[in-house]
This record gives sequence, C-alpha cells and structure tokens, in this order.
Amino acid sequence: MKILLLGSGGREHALAWKIAQSPKVEKLYIAPGNAGTTAVGENVNIKATDFEAISAFALKENIQMIVVGPEDPLVKGIYDYFQNRPELKHIAVIGPSAQGAQLEGSKEFAKGFMMRHNIPTARYKSITSENLEEGLAFLETLEAPYVLKADGLCAGKGVLILPTLDEAKKELKEMLGGMFGSASATVVIEEFLSGIECSVFVLTDGDNYKVLPVAKDYKRIGEGDKGLNTGGMGSVTPVPFADEVYMEKVRTRIIEPTINGLKEEKITYKGFIFLGLIKVKGEPMVIEYNVRMGDPETESVMLRIQSDFVELLEGTAAGNLNEKTLVMDPRSAGCVILVSGGYPEAYEKGFPISGLEQAAATDSIIIFHAGTAMKDGQVVTNGGRVIAVCSYGATKEEALAQSYKVADMIDFDKKYFRRDIGFDL
Ligand code: AMP
Ligand code: GLY
Repeated sequence: MKILLLGSGGREHALAWKIAQSPKVEKLYIAPGNAGTTAVGENVNIKATDFEAISAFALKENIQMIVVGPEDPLVKGIYDYFQNRPELKHIAVIGPSAQGAQLEGSKEFAKGFMMRHNIPTARYKSITSENLEEGLAFLETLEAPYVLKADGLCAGKGVLILPTLDEAKKELKEMLGGMFGSASATVVIEEFLSGIECSVFVLTDGDNYKVLPVAKDYKRIGEGDKGLNTGGMGSVTPVPFADEVYMEKVRTRIIEPTINGLKEEKITYKGFIFLGLIKVKGEPMVIEYNVRMGDPETESVMLRIQSDFVELLEGTAAGNLNEKTLVMDPRSAGCVILVSGGYPEAYEKGFPISGLEQAAATDSIIIFHAGTAMKDGQVVTNGGRVIAVCSYGATKEEALAQSYKVADMIDFDKKYFRRDIGFDL
C-alpha cells in the first residue's frame, strides 16, 4: 500500500517510523516532513492544508491512505474534501469529518457535546459580547483560579488561567475584544478542576475502538511544571495512576458515551480521539478533546505499539477495527524534548546539530526529529522543539535515565531541556 502522512513534527516522525515498519507499506510519503522523516520515507514539499496539491499528488502516486497528523487539515475538512469527490473517494483518510473535528475546533461545541451525552467535565458557560454580563455574573459564582478558553483553534495558546476575579473579568473582555482574533469571539468560562492529568488516545472506526497506551505529557518550559506553556517538553507511558479501575471508568463514562454520541448525532469519525483527562478525587473528567494524536505523547506511545499499525489504520478505514489486534509492549517508554534556547518565546534557528548518529546507535534509544531541516548536507535546528530523545526501559525511571544520557550527547547552540520529566508520577 502507498501511504501519505501529513505533518512535519516529532509526532509525524514517530508515526512515520511506526507505519514504515509494516510489511504492508510499499511506499510512505510525508508532506512536508522534516530532516528525520527522510530516513523512513520520502518527503514531499506540500503543506498539510493544501488540499488541492495533496489530492493531485495522491492521484498521481496512487496513494491509498492519507494519515493526518495535525488538527488544522481536519478542522478545515480534509476528510470531507476526499469523501465528496468521486475521483478521490477511494482514498482512505484517517481522521474525523469536519463536523467531528469540531470536538477540537470549537470548545463550545465540545462542551455542548459532553453535556448532551452526560460526559463528566467542568461546569461552564459559553460567552460572546452579546451576553458578557452573564459571563461576568458566572465568574462571580466560581472560585479562583478562573479558566477562560478561546472557542477556536489558537495553536495551543487559547487557554488562560487567572488567579483573581478582577483579572478574569478583564481578560474575558480582552478575549472577546479580539485577543485571539475570531477564535476568541466566543469564550468558554470553566470551573477550575484540581487533579493530575493524562492523555488517553482512542482509535475508532466510528463503531469499534482500541485504546492506545496511556501517556502523560509535560507542557511547561520550566522544571517542576513552572513557566510558560510550550508544545510539550517530554512524555512518559504507561501512567501508573491510570490503572485498570480508572481505565474502566474512562471506558464506560467517557470513551463509549463519546463514540455513541458521535453515532447518535450522525457524525462520521474514523480516526484518533485524544482525551485530555484529569483525575479529580479518583474520578476521570474531560479537560479537552483533540481529534489527532498528541505531541510529544505520540513519540512515547508509538514505541509501545507492537502490532502492525497499518493494519489498525486499515481497520479504522474499513470499519472492522474489532477484527484487528492491538498488542502493546510491556516496557515503559519516555521522551525528552530538546528545544531551542528562548522557546516558547523568540529563538534562533539554523544551528548545526551534532551527535545524532552516536545517539541513535545507543541501546534502547529512538531519536525522532521535530523542528529540523537539512542545510548544506548538515542537520540544523529549524523550530522551537528540535529533537525527541525517546527510550525504552523496564521502568519509566530506566527509560528516562537512558534518554537523559543521550540528551547530553546531542548538541546544538543554545540547547535546553527539562531534567525532570516524569517527576510527579
Ligand atoms: P488546553 O489548551 O485545553 O489543553 O488547556 C491547557 C491546559 O490548561 C490543560 O492541559 C490543563 O492543564 C489546563 N486546564 C484547562 N482547563 C482546565 C480546568 N477546567 N481546570 C484546570 N485546569 C485546566
Ligand atoms: N501534548 C498535548 C497536545 O498535543 O496537544
């Protein structure tokens, strides 16, 4: 089979690595990919949201399946674009329809969906400039801190957590006034939940589902989870507190009502559902839905999937995922992200990266590229998050110790990473 994978980050390198292991793959293309994905497939210089160029390429190269890494193309309707065109309909797109992608594309839609299907989540109110007074009154009923979420996609920046009521009221007005452009024309105000978070990934064909290895990511730039939010500084899997009892609650109270809810509302969904969960007094609640895999969770999760991943994706497209098996590696996996100094604020690019070959040759280590590019035959930094240093281990401590050993081997100017991934587990 010929597969086209869309995206260019660490998540996509990890997906490409896993997909390329399948004997079913005749050829794997990645659009646009990065300097690392060329080791497992062929990069194609097309943007993940350029549907015209993607479909032309897919037809020319006889692509049978498109795997969508990031959320943008999904929210923009790539699934429907292929389904609605007779000449493209035969190409399987792994991902939800545009309607299904609203679970991530609109926080208001996601909250409404959870209410309709009785899925546990924080109390909320959806506010626009029309009902600002209601929003201010709702804030008065909540306790600090206050959670404000822009309704639309904001590249992970649309959530504000404010310590005082005054700040919450002020920021609410600013968000509605265009702080995140049209994405914050509607703002969801939420009750703050206190607990520990994890990421649960579900692959569904719309009827059947498989739960992939549960992971935890570390979003803040500083150790001890302090400082600015980033795209993710590291991840581990499995997550000890997501034990069998907890996961049974997750299945019956969250996963099954979500899939049944999609069916009831006649929303086509053949792809990944990412549940951002928080454990509050032992009970799982949904912080957010995403309609794709997480980054940097995928970099750890892919290490723990032993089955042929392409077979699972085929089952997703064909609607017989129940006939496929998911075998997980019993080992732990951890991932440490090396970032450009300054990130998530301003940083420089184009620094040569050394030590990659030596690192990759180290026992139990798998290196995935995120923000990298080739320049004059040399791998250089090309983004905030640069390299994911992933490792297997009998325990998460062993996996992370190995990742840290190698994190010191790889070097580039102004490299930074957190030394405490997994600290809270
Ligand atoms: P999001 O951009 O939706 O992933 O939110 C970013 C982060 O904000 C989440 O990972 C949580 O740590 C935090 N967060 C979002 N909603 C809430 C909430 N209702 N209570 C507590 N923390 C929250
Ligand atoms: N790691 C969180 C995300 O991918 O959104």
